[in-house]
This record gives sequence, structure tokens and C-alpha cells, in this order.
Amino acid sequence: IGRFPLVPVRGVPLMSHIANNWDSVWAFKPDPSDILIATYPKAGTTWTQEIIDLLLHNGDAEACKRAPTPVRSPFLEIASPPPIPSGLDLLKKMNPPRLIKTHLPFQLVPPGFWENKCKVIYVARNAKDNLVSYYFFDQMNKTQPEPGPFDGYIHKFMRGELGWGSWYDHVKGYWLEREKKNILYLFYEDMKENPQREVERIMRYLDVSVSDEAVRQIVELTSFKNMKENPMANYSCIPSPVFDQSISPFMRKGEVGDWTNHFTAEQSKVFDEDYDKQMRDLDIPFRVML
Ligand code: A3P
Repeated sequence: IGRFPLVPVRGVPLMSHIANNWDSVWAFKPDPSDILIATYPKAGTTWTQEIIDLLLHNGDAEACKRAPTPVRSPFLEIASPPPIPSGLDLLKKMNPPRLIKTHLPFQLVPPGFWENKCKVIYVARNAKDNLVSYYFFDQMNKTQPEPGPFDGYIHKFMRGELGWGSWYDHVKGYWLEREKKNILYLFYEDMKENPQREVERIMRYLDVSVSDEAVRQIVELTSFKNMKENPMANYSCIPSPVFDQSISPFMRKGEVGDWTNHFTAEQSKVFDEDYDKQMRDLDIPFRVML
């Protein structure tokens, strides 16, 4: 195991072990009942996964104790390496409906998901908090490229040179297709602001029905504090040579606006000017503070 270099797949930098297995990822055939959670890394993937898993199990906490996070809901594209469980291998052994995660941008989602009209839930997080979270993750995740100093990292983010490519293209790609492809487009900030409302939104989209009490229970079980302490949700199953949580815990802070603790005023200005240019063509209602 080590830090994998980035290799472009149709112009999008992906870690080499994924790029090298690209054909099998692209050929993946989901079942129509499978559910896809798509995100740019660090936008709230795990949180949303826990919510959906609980919704599919009627709010029963035992459901989340069956297996740790990456096993209950594998990343489609993590085709190797051990000891991270291979998503494609895990999926082959699971019965539909499966909860599948991906960080692939819209254009790289295997076409089988659209052909089979699978439910797809996208979670987006404001660029600055997403960047800060990714910066800490790239320090602790020993399979991703070294993040280097924060200032340089900001520029790599703006240029789309981090793993999974450009945040700007990612959030836009799903946004533009959300109606045509019936994608539920969620915001991390909305989930922080009113988790019950967002749990209910997901429930309606998935066409499941749980009691008000179960919704309250799901909100409670998926609070940042509870997930941080839950060994089935906090990625403590991934050994420290891969995820070194002493450098930065997977459940790090879970806040909106943490970017203000990391960006200088000058960095923020440079970032905002570039942001306005890159997002000029689309008005996606991101909030950087609550
Ligand atoms: P921070 O690094 O800002 O704390 P992903 O699951 O996509 O990798 O995203 C991880 C980010 O979501 C981390 O952000 C993590 O703390 C945050 N997160 C995870 N569970 C959360 C929860 N229940 N409530 C709020 N934030 C959560």
C-alpha cells in the first residue's frame, strides 16, 4: 500500500488503481433497485449513507451494526487494493437492493445506472469547506497523493488537479442532469441546518415510509457525535497504515464554515474571484455559512 499517483480517465485524474481497473468499473451493471450515492469526496457521503441505510431498515440501529461502513455500502470504483475492500468484489456478493457509493463525476458514472433508472442521490458541499475537509483527508489517507502545503492545495483544487478532478465540474455535472435523470440533489449545509427535513426528503425520494419516531431516531443516530463514536460508521475498520486517524480523524469536525479557520483573507479573495469565473454559467445555491 502507498500513495497512488493520479492517472487521467477521460481527462479526470483518478487514483492509478482505479484507472487501471477502469474497464470493469465502466462495465458494472447495477440492478434497477440499487441506489447510488454520488459525491465529490468529503461532501457528506458517509453521513448520507448512514441515513439511507437506516431508512431502508426502518430506523433500526441494529442495521448499522451489521458491518462497517465500507462493507455495507461499498465504493463502486474501489476495485483494489487490499486491505480496503474492493467495491466490485463486495457488490458481486451482495443481493440487491444495494447501496452503492461513488465519487465519479457524472460523465464517468457507468451507463447501466441510467439505463436501469436507478435512484441516484447526489450530495454537494460548499467549495471552501469541501476543500478544507479534503485537505485533512489527504493527509490521513495514505493512498491519496500527498496534499503538500495548504496554499498550493488551494490552487490544485481550483485547477481540478486533485483526485476525482474538478469540484466545479463535479457539482455542475450532476446539477445539470438532475431533472432529466431524476437525481435527488442534496446540500450538506441543508442537512446541517435541518436534518429531519432532509431525512424526510430522502425518504420521499426513495419511496419508503417510516414513522415520525423512526425519523427522529435516524436523525439522532446520524448526528455527528453519534457517528464519530460509532465504530461501524467512523471508518476505524480501515487500518492505520491506510487511514491514519491520529493525523486527522475521519469524523473530523462536521461543521459549516470551518473554512474560516484555515483560509487567510488573501486566499479567500483569490479563491472567490476564481470561483465567480468558474461558476459564472450556473447558479447553484451554495451556502458557505449558516
Ligand atoms: P469534516 O472534515 O469537515 O469534518 P465523506 O463522508 O464524504 O468523506 O465526508 C466527510 C465529511 O463529512 C467530514 O467533514 C466529516 O466530519 C463530515 N461528516 C460525517 N458524518 C457527519 C455527520 N453525521 N454530521 C455532520 N458532518 C459529518
